[in-house]
Amino acid sequence: MHLSQRVQSLAESATLAVTARAAQLKADGVDVISFGAGEPDFPTPPHIVAAGAQAMRDGHTKYSKPASGLIAVKKAVCGKLRRENDLEYAPEQIVITAGGKNACHLVLHAMLDPGDEVMIPVPYWVSYPEMVKLAGGVPVFLPGDPKDGFRVTPDQIRGAITDRTRMMILNSPSNPGGHMYAPEQIRAIADVLQDTRITVLSDEIYDRLVYADMPCVSVASVSDDAYQRTITLNSASKTYSMTGWRLGCVAGPTDLVRAVAKLQSQNTSGATTFSQIAYAAALDGDQSCVEEMREAFRARARFIHTRLNAIPDVQCNEPQGAFYVFPDVSGTYARLGVSDSQGFATRLLNEAHVAVVPGSAFGMDAHVRLSFATGMEQIEKGLSRMADWIARS
Ligand SMILES: Cc1ncc(COP(=O)(O)O)c(C=O)c1O
Repeated sequence: MHLSQRVQSLAESATLAVTARAAQLKADGVDVISFGAGEPDFPTPPHIVAAGAQAMRDGHTKYSKPASGLIAVKKAVCGKLRRENDLEYAPEQIVITAGGKNACHLVLHAMLDPGDEVMIPVPYWVSYPEMVKLAGGVPVFLPGDPKDGFRVTPDQIRGAITDRTRMMILNSPSNPGGHMYAPEQIRAIADVLQDTRITVLSDEIYDRLVYADMPCVSVASVSDDAYQRTITLNSASKTYSMTGWRLGCVAGPTDLVRAVAKLQSQNTSGATTFSQIAYAAALDGDQSCVEEMREAFRARARFIHTRLNAIPDVQCNEPQGAFYVFPDVSGTYARLGVSDSQGFATRLLNEAHVAVVPGSAFGMDAHVRLSFATGMEQIEKGLSRMADWIARS
């Protein structure tokens, strides 16, 4: 069977691959502890499920009209952006998408011409470089310094800008680094980009899962210039534990949003209608469910950070947001007889039955990613296994 060059050059999502391998081992009867999936372990809150079910009973089981999203849902997104992100958007500046990943694809395809460069801070979410390449763009990586919490500096950004630079992707709080940019750092980045032709894709999917003592500032909120050059992305998946509902959104300048909507009309024909209504109920409803999940994640973040740092030759930063830790485990490679993060993760899974994602998938081979979107008991057990395995190897 002939396969396109495009798909042949595409890497499979490493996180989904690890999750699948862990699931296979579990199905074979192996007691695997998985730190693989970036998926909250909580059920979708009942009032959101009820709204989705009611929407189905009310007949919202047809195509979304318009395809770019139901007006009432766009208004709910505008309300969220106003309340939580200090951003003023009109409903015609919003597109409701089939998840954040779909939103990313659509934006990149709407923006990029062949050879256009996209600046991506490292470590990055696995999908960014592949999605940029699929859209014909060229990823340009900006390595973050682990000692500085992986954050890239304004000077790095300035130094990477060329005539071909068309976009920059920012993700704060970050998957996989767990770091965040402070308000003044966001402003400094916006200053560097001011008066350039660069559009920022600000992936704020973890904006409500913050543990650091600082606000999550939206790039688009810091100045008029930043507002005009930024497309803000969000999703129901992480905040409301709605990964399976496949619901995301983008907000931005009207011409760009129209282009995204046009692409969407030839792509998914819009997000699932009853999922949209459930998302509006999530955004407009009681937010205590978000606070409860955030508190649980915060406790796990502290615990996992302390436990990982107690393992000899393992170092990690304390997560400031999202639900990942990204420890440097390269100090163990020589002793374990492995040469990279893939080797580390493979042996850890086969010998200690603990699943982590190799850091190479996120652009940093000295690291591995652990998601703590899993229960405390599992986390304790998994970390004990990992520590014992390293100690006896
Ligand atoms: C940084 C980031 N952006 C976007 C997504 C996409 O999420 P979804 O498509 O479930 O909304 C993810 C999922 O892991 C993510 O970590």
